[in-house]
Amino acid sequence: MYEYTKEQLESLKKVEETRGKRVNQELKRMTAEEKESVLASFHPDYIESAYEELKIGPNKGGKVLHELASLLQGKARVLDLDVNLDKIDYDVDVLIIGGGGAGASAAIEADKTGAKTMIVTKLRLGDANTAMAEGGIQAADKENDSPAIHYLDALGGGHFANKPELLRKLVTDAPEAIEWLNELGVMFDKEPDGTMITTHGGGTSRKRMHACKDYSGSEIMRVLRDEVYNRGITVVDFTSAVELIKDSEGKAAGAVLMNMETKEILVARAKTVIIATGGAGRLHYQGFPTSNHYGATADGLILAYRAGAKLLYPETLQYHPTGAACPTQIYGALVTEKVRSLGAQLVNKDGVAFVNPLETRDVTASAIIRECKKNGKGVATTDGEGVWLDTPMIEIRGGEGTIEKRIPAMLRMFGKYGIDIRKEPILVYPTLHYQNGGIDISANGMSGVENLFVAGEAVGGIHGKNRLMGNSLLDIIVFGRNAGQNAGKKAKSVKVKALTLDFVKKFDEERRAAGIVSEELSPRLLPDYRRKEL
Ligand code: FUM
Repeated sequence: MYEYTKEQLESLKKVEETRGKRVNQELKRMTAEEKESVLASFHPDYIESAYEELKIGPNKGGKVLHELASLLQGKARVLDLDVNLDKIDYDVDVLIIGGGGAGASAAIEADKTGAKTMIVTKLRLGDANTAMAEGGIQAADKENDSPAIHYLDALGGGHFANKPELLRKLVTDAPEAIEWLNELGVMFDKEPDGTMITTHGGGTSRKRMHACKDYSGSEIMRVLRDEVYNRGITVVDFTSAVELIKDSEGKAAGAVLMNMETKEILVARAKTVIIATGGAGRLHYQGFPTSNHYGATADGLILAYRAGAKLLYPETLQYHPTGAACPTQIYGALVTEKVRSLGAQLVNKDGVAFVNPLETRDVTASAIIRECKKNGKGVATTDGEGVWLDTPMIEIRGGEGTIEKRIPAMLRMFGKYGIDIRKEPILVYPTLHYQNGGIDISANGMSGVENLFVAGEAVGGIHGKNRLMGNSLLDIIVFGRNAGQNAGKKAKSVKVKALTLDFVKKFDEERRAAGIVSEELSPRLLPDYRRKEL
């Protein structure tokens, strides 16, 4: 059971005392200038010392965080391995790397084209950020809404940097994505008459967030996983892709695989390859905790980069405003934005609400950091500090029982530590949540490398420089399906030539020529949490 410190108890009292006055208080939204100012001063993306210039590869001269640079320019694992490209272990039409929502959606659609499809995943099918997503999935399918309005919301949230053709596809295909999931059996929250219940997210001008309580990703992944297995699609689990393979014409043609337990090396030849490896939270950029899955180590970005694919906005990360700041056992875990959509305010240690809770994520996160680091209004916790998320306001504003009905996962997560979020507020602080940038693709899902497709969080450009809530569960479906359909169709006309890893050797020569001496093996595959003195 969690025991509050004296300072926390004193602050908690102030939050309770001020709640009555705050209940009808709606903080006004920041002006564009105010947003610019708080972002520039407090958002982690603006800390120049955290970045370095890439010396080699397609983004040479561009800046990325040190942790990513050391992997993008790291030593390819495959150089130390004995790989026999003449011995083909798997020969397929479409090879999908990654077993989350994007990979599963791609596999289902590739299978429908008649392509021989295989998923390879370093953990198990469904062990991915998708299953950890809580709040919901956006789609403009109500009468007062339209894909055009959805487009404008996402464009504003993304700082007008979204790649237009990708954003257009995201919003226009969204209603169909919801129907597809509904048909497959996803149990969306509905009114008794069957109408989908929708709520706001940060930066949305319409209520278009469809959800399955606060288990949205887990429910979607359950259904996708069942569909993959029901279709008899081959799934090779506990096996990572350690390098892409090209053919003599420079086209993607498979991957070198490694069994995570036995370390056996296997070769998969494929006519088309889809990278669906997800995000990078487990690289803990700038020392942040993360809401991400254990396998989120940016592997797809590393493999694609070495193969010659350009990255778009790899320098922009999303720090979700409300990671759990306390207790320490759940430090950094996601506290869904839906908590704020349902009426919880962000409050400082004096019980003062300091930011409209539904500003876009980058702005809200920056305002929390400012409140703690500049204004000295944070509350100390074992791992750092945080501000209060006043959850009892949800029940006051929305009626008794709202929390149990709409966000039971949150009730349970904090309940394990004796914190009843219906009665007590919780402490939160930004947590590393999402990689806004990733591999540059065209609207058909293909990267700059012929026959190499990408889907899900590994894609860059859909969300510009800051994603809105609920557009990620949406993009894994829209762009997962799109990549599966196009990779499946393309595979029909592909003739794979002789396999080669020469491009990896060439990349290594470039490394040396650029004076990069790091022996860090890439991709990382899994985070290393061992205590260093051991
Ligand atoms: O806050 C959340 O539930 C997260 C949703 C998302 O990243 O889309």
